[in-house]
Amino acid sequence: MVKVDISGALGFIDENEVRAIDTSVHLQKLETMYENGWMKVPAVFNAELSDKVKCLAEKITKQSQVLVVLGIGGSYLGARAAIEYIKSPNYNMLPKKTPDILFAGNNVSGEYLEQIIALIGDRDFSVNVVSKSGSTIETAISLRFFKELLLKKYGQQGLKERLFVTSDIGSPLIQMAQREGYAYLEMPPEVGGRYSVLTVVGLLPCCVAGIDIDELMRGAKEEFDNGIQEACLYAAARQALYKKGKKIEMLACFEPAFRSTGEWWKQLFGESEGKEGIGIFPSYADYSADLHSMGQLIQEGERTLFETFVSLKSSRSSLNVPSGSIHSDKIATIEGFDMHKINCSAFDAVKKAHIDGGVPALELCLPSLSAASFGALAYFFMRSCAVSSLISGVNPFGQPGVEAYKKNLFAILGL
Ligand code: PA5
Repeated sequence: MVKVDISGALGFIDENEVRAIDTSVHLQKLETMYENGWMKVPAVFNAELSDKVKCLAEKITKQSQVLVVLGIGGSYLGARAAIEYIKSPNYNMLPKKTPDILFAGNNVSGEYLEQIIALIGDRDFSVNVVSKSGSTIETAISLRFFKELLLKKYGQQGLKERLFVTSDIGSPLIQMAQREGYAYLEMPPEVGGRYSVLTVVGLLPCCVAGIDIDELMRGAKEEFDNGIQEACLYAAARQALYKKGKKIEMLACFEPAFRSTGEWWKQLFGESEGKEGIGIFPSYADYSADLHSMGQLIQEGERTLFETFVSLKSSRSSLNVPSGSIHSDKIATIEGFDMHKINCSAFDAVKKAHIDGGVPALELCLPSLSAASFGALAYFFMRSCAVSSLISGVNPFGQPGVEAYKKNLFAILGL
């Protein structure tokens, strides 16, 4: 469960201003919207779906040392976030029994594609192409390359065994899968791309990476059952800050494993809220690394920023600082300190310094980095994002603005 602490923002907004925002009307509105399918995803997840995902994941794991996930936006950010958060940001480099997971189809760089192909090398691989619409150009181009590679290496039958499709019912990709004989998973049509991490979109790559998807969904269900109040509090506090001119939100965490969750969060909030000339600009900071790049600006730059800190009660590591200091100053006496304690102290120090410097702080408190806490946090963010968008008066679903670049690209390419 995610706990929200708004005390670090109360010097900048009044608690009554936050409480005065009636989130219940927005929750009711959400219930009536077609694209609200993600809301019930944790409740409808069942053993049948779990087994279906596990069965495909087992097949992929048995036959491959690498799984390449082709997708862009909501079709890959959630899976990458979950794998880094739950397993490690260095998942591919660590010794393990599960396949490496590589992501492609999220850009149109030939150089990047060549490097992904080089990374696969001689190893056996499978491909999971993920696209809700089935017609996104970045993913479509990469699919051509990977179909060709699979065909060359494994032949027609091998291609059939190694290409896995995740898409909307009736999409061109599902039609291709049915026509050409690939295994496929259907996305619920009433779940939008950036709200799909807890569906087969995120679950299949996670399962291949050895993540306990039942545990992940248990966390999401707990949040679904008990998290409305906290999600609404976060949504209302953000909008109260926005009204006070705090136009940029910096999500920050002191665990590098959280970095890709920050990227996923940016898409979720950016695409949902940034419409009709308004919207909080979402950015992410990886602390303490970014204190040495962005810290100056956060501490003393233009006061249009608020921070949302993610804090973790416990760590999976029990490292202590060893002896052997080369310093004769204060750092010399740090021998024996628990690394988690140092990280928590850095958190307290930064939060206080930034509040003192005029940056309001919200805090999202989590027990630890685990499959259940990822499921809970993902659901928490989707719910608060939808409510926050409705408070600001925009539709959280759809991304009409994304079409502009696509139209230009097709015109320039003469397609
Ligand atoms: O949130 C969304 O719907 C988008 O960001 C999509 O995830 C992204 O554009 C990719 O679309 P598709 O899954 O149709 O390839």
